[in-house]
Amino acid sequence: MKRLQFLAIAIGLLVTSVAHSQRPLSQATGRRGMVVSVSPPATRAGLEILKAGGNAVDAAVAVEFALAVTWPAAGNIGGGGFMMVHPAGGGDVVCIDYRETAPGAATETMFTRNDGRYSHKIVGVPGTVHGMVTAHKKFGKLPWKQLLQPAIILARDGFPIDRSLASSINSVLRSRSTRSAKRHQELIRVYGPSEGRSWTTGQKLVLPDLAATLERIANQGADGFYKGKTARLLAVEMASGDGLITEKDLAAYRARIRPAVHGTFRGHDVYGPPPPSSGGICLVQMLNVLEHLQLRKHERFSVRNVHVLTEAMKRAYCDRARYLGDADFVKIPPRLTSKEYARTLAGQIDPAKATPSASLAPEIQLAGESPETTHFSVVDAGGLAVSNTTTLEGSWGARIVVKGAGFVLNNEMGDFNWFPGTTDRRGRIGTPANRIRPGKRMLSSQTPTIVARDGRPVLITGSPGGRTIINTSLQMVLGIVEFEQDLPTAMKAARIHHQWFPDRLLYETHDGAITAETATRLKAMGHRLSARRRTSYQGDAHSILINAKTGEFHGVADWRRNGLAAGY
Ligand code: DON
Repeated sequence: MKRLQFLAIAIGLLVTSVAHSQRPLSQATGRRGMVVSVSPPATRAGLEILKAGGNAVDAAVAVEFALAVTWPAAGNIGGGGFMMVHPAGGGDVVCIDYRETAPGAATETMFTRNDGRYSHKIVGVPGTVHGMVTAHKKFGKLPWKQLLQPAIILARDGFPIDRSLASSINSVLRSRSTRSAKRHQELIRVYGPSEGRSWTTGQKLVLPDLAATLERIANQGADGFYKGKTARLLAVEMASGDGLITEKDLAAYRARIRPAVHGTFRGHDVYGPPPPSSGGICLVQMLNVLEHLQLRKHERFSVRNVHVLTEAMKRAYCDRARYLGDADFVKIPPRLTSKEYARTLAGQIDPAKATPSASLAPEIQLAGESPETTHFSVVDAGGLAVSNTTTLEGSWGARIVVKGAGFVLNNEMGDFNWFPGTTDRRGRIGTPANRIRPGKRMLSSQTPTIVARDGRPVLITGSPGGRTIINTSLQMVLGIVEFEQDLPTAMKAARIHHQWFPDRLLYETHDGAITAETATRLKAMGHRLSARRRTSYQGDAHSILINAKTGEFHGVADWRRNGLAAGY
């Protein structure tokens, strides 16, 4: 009987996954504007703002707030992220860093081995609202209040949920850890199904407390979140558990506008986010290395290409562990993105043999990530381009909803190096650069990316996926620039991931990209391979390609989770 049940589940999974990878892509073309995000109502919110005369940053702000309502596992006002902006008509590409910070009372050793990932003390000071205010002040055109209207209406009047959202809410509500602890009761109250035991597609989700919080942000700007009622509710929520965030921490939070990390690759300019994200530096470093390795002369998934790509990844992620953290607190060697350094690294790759990860950083003593994040892309008729990744860290963050304020809190403190000195083969990092300090931003892998040519954006991309994010962005850039694929082909291509430790190459299996023979040969070279389960994909890279000749936008939503591309 058990065996039969197992067989039925296995067949079910296979059917779903086959159906999933063959699902038609949501794609759109246009010349005046394009928005691609994971959540159809959020994409529509952005499009509505573009059509009302807003620019890409206005639309991005509207999408961000709408996602806080319609994609609560990752969309947020209680989290943070990175927004890359390529100004219309050229000029400096900047990154609005709205990463969370450690509260004033945080200490390097505040976490013990018994700490879980769903507590009050794992919450970082949220950056999203200040990030959006900062982006709007610098680039926005429409009045601030107007940008929040779509989100407020969605939260206040409710909206029918789709299959993806129903399954996300049902799974967080069903989880034993959510049901058992008192700190999650507000999440259960706010997101519990209006009728029946679980959510079904088409039922309406109404979020009145969140609507009221969004109203305060619409009316008072950053003060509507970081001061007054919202700040008080958040501080009270923190005090009800082991949380550290105070009203003072909230009042002190500032997003930063930082220069983008810049690299070049095959005649293109590549822009990624600077520290506290590791994304820009690692992406540029890997592209610099790959410039020497002529991937396009070989089959995309040949043994040779998978080998050198993996070796480039390993080295970049090793440097990430060694050196990267919040540059306001630690000094980061400038050579990491230099062409000379990349030449040295490329020269160290043995064409016939995998380098064991441990041998890359002998000085680091070795002791014996889950969705959600979300990425969206926007471009407007003037060529202003926005690449934005935002997160609560884990799916539904700390799974704590601020009582009376209706929003979910992040668990981003988990992105710091929790145990100083403990770097292990499973991927835990304990090096100094990313240890906890009050006010410091935790290291991120978010990699919203803009590729430009002759001062004009050609590709806007990025992804969720924890440490896999950087490699997903890398492979999107390679698909378009190195292999000259169209966007749907680059999007559908199987993705691979190596992050130094665990010393293991993880790969997607759809379309049989890495064949059994390739896998056997890679193993013989010393690689350790691990195929992803058929239902567990890498990333969700909602992207826009801009045709340099015709100026036409092509938006494609990744099929791996959910999404809508809409343009006009
Ligand atoms: O900032 C980071 O790198 C992580 N907090 C992102 C987490 C993530 O992408 C989980 N999602 N899919």
